[in-house]
Amino acid sequence: MVLETLSWIIKTQLPTYLKKLPLPETIGGFARLTVLEWLRLLPLLGILALLGYLTIRPFLPKKKKQRDSLINLKIQKEKRKVENEIHIEDLKCTNVCYCRCWRSKTFPVCDKSHIKHNELTGDNVGPLIIKKKTL
Ligand code: FES
Repeated sequence: MVLETLSWIIKTQLPTYLKKLPLPETIGGFARLTVLEWLRLLPLLGILALLGYLTIRPFLPKKKKQRDSLINLKIQKEKRKVENEIHIEDLKCTNVCYCRCWRSKTFPVCDKSHIKHNELTGDNVGPLIIKKKTL
């Protein structure tokens, strides 16, 4: 049934459709086509564009895959969600740096591992620096 329908479309309908297409003899003839004639050409042009795209697609540059989709590679992986709570009143120093690259061995405090990470990956991450005003 499906093959019969396909055969009928290709052998009967398609030639009839192609014969009725308002294809101009010259390139300039395209400029003289009416809107209705363009609409009749649209399905054919769409199919040709699709076939052209599918033909050149293997040669198009591919998007670079994300090098590292996981942010946290090893810190407290047993937890469902890593959260840290720090009370500002408990800060003993005037300057504290907290890791945002998830590579610190002293997480959540920054140990400057982000420098090596940035050199290796070309990333630009850095710590969250919290400063306490001294009165
Ligand atoms: Fe992660 Fe510094 S070690 S931001």
